[in-house]
Amino acid sequence: MPNGETLTILQDLSLEIESGQILGILGVSGSGKSTLLALLAGLDIPTQGAVFWDNTNLNNLDEDGRAHLRLHKAGFVFQSFELLPAYTAYENVLLPLELLDEKSSRDATGTSITIEEKAIQCLREVGLEKRLHHYPNQLSGGEQQRVAIARAFALEPKVLFADEPTGNLDEKTGTHVIELLNNLNKMHKTTLICVTHDPALSRMCQKVLHLSGGQLSST
Ligand SMILES: Nc1ncnc2c1ncn2[C@@H]1O[C@H](COP(=O)(O)OP(=O)(O)OP(=O)(O)O)[C@@H](O)[C@H]1O
Ligand SMILES: [Mg+2]
Repeated sequence: MPNGETLTILQDLSLEIESGQILGILGVSGSGKSTLLALLAGLDIPTQGAVFWDNTNLNNLDEDGRAHLRLHKAGFVFQSFELLPAYTAYENVLLPLELLDEKSSRDATGTSITIEEKAIQCLREVGLEKRLHHYPNQLSGGEQQRVAIARAFALEPKVLFADEPTGNLDEKTGTHVIELLNNLNKMHKTTLICVTHDPALSRMCQKVLHLSGGQLSST
C-alpha cells in the first residue's frame, strides 16, 4: 500500500470449482471479486494459501509456467478489456491463436479452418464483422468488450474467467453474449467463472456465491 498499511481483501476463503461448472460471483464494488479472479487465474499469487488447477499448485510454477498454463487452458474477459492498443480488433483476436502455434483451428461444426478464418468467425459471432480493422480507440466500450470476448472464445479455453462480461453491453448484445457463453459451456464443456451484477447472467449460473468481508457464501 502507498502508506505502508496492509489491507486484507480475502481471508479464510475456500472454493472448489468443478470442471464444466458455471459459477457466478457477486459482491459490492471493492469486495475483492477481481482480486479473487486474478488469484484463481494465476495472474496474482496469494500472500497465503494456494490455488490448484487439477493437481498443479500454481505456487510451484514460475511466471513462465503460469503463462503457459493460462495460454493453453484459460480465457479471460477483463473488466477493463485489456486489448492491445496498437493492434486492430482482428489482430487482437488472431494474436493468441498465433501464440498457440497451431496452424489450424475448428469452426462450430468441428471443420478445420485457418486461424485467420477462426479470428474473423469469432468476431462475426459477436457482431463485429464490420469492425475488423478498427483499433481499440476507434471502438466503443461495448465493442471493445466484444473483441475481448471474441479473443477469449477463439482459444476455446477449458476455463473462462469473465469479469462483468456483460457490464458494458446493451441488453440485446448482453443477451447474445450470455447465449455465446452458454454455448461455449454446453459445446466445449468450458468451465465458466463469471463476476457479474447482471441478473440475466446470474440466472445462467449453476451456482452463485456472494463475496463479502473477504469471504464467500452461498446466496
Ligand atoms: N493493486 C492494488 N493495490 C492496492 N489495493 C488494491 C489493488 N487492487 C485492488 N486493491 C484494493 O482491493 C480491494 C478489492 O478490489 P477489487 O478490484 O478486487 O474489487 P471488486 O470487487 O472487483 O470491485 P468492482 O466491482 O468495483 O470491480 C479494493 O478495496 C481495492 O482498493
Ligand atoms: Mg472488479
